[in-house]
Amino acid sequence: MELPPEIARVLVTAAELERVVGELAARLEQDYEGREPVMVGALTGAVVVLADLARRVRLPAQIDFVSVSSYGNQATSSGQICWRKGLSLDIRDRDVVLVEDIVDTGETVACLQRALAAEQPRSLRTLALLDKPSRRRVEVRLDYVGLEIPDEFVVGYGLDYAQRFRNLPYVGVLKPEVYA
Ligand code: PRP
Repeated sequence: MELPPEIARVLVTAAELERVVGELAARLEQDYEGREPVMVGALTGAVVVLADLARRVRLPAQIDFVSVSSYGNQATSSGQICWRKGLSLDIRDRDVVLVEDIVDTGETVACLQRALAAEQPRSLRTLALLDKPSRRRVEVRLDYVGLEIPDEFVVGYGLDYAQRFRNLPYVGVLKPEVYA
């Protein structure tokens, strides 16, 4: 396969992503049987995984997005707003699944978990397609993880470098000279 010149190698192939997303969807089906969860994606990166995941989950589900504007400060109280575009749906008493493409330091997920919890959902779980545990600065609870990956600059399948490469169908490693 011909890669863009900025991409050093493929870390997760499209086929592997399809398998992982299928496994995550199967777990959601099991855990939310008889319910209608709200899948909340954090823009922009989570768009691709959420679109694929939502179509694999054989459950009635609803979809919403938030746009994160800044990280919360761990020291401040719960319910802090860290989004620029908030929810469109009312998630009070709903089963909410926060969907992220990647968890790195954990700051984004920590802030979103606090902000979503403040809306008083019935339940709140977090799904991350990719997890970089070696970069964690804030401890966060992840209920569903697709793959743990090493500390490399990855792009594709929603993940960007300067807004580019999000539409690659695989997860690739960016050449260091591109971002150095
Ligand atoms: C990325 C990713 C997560 C976050 C993870 O989003 O989609 O939301 O970073 O990093 P963290 O664990 O260190 O907080 P980004 O802010 O790059 O925005 P994007 O989704 O628009 O690419």
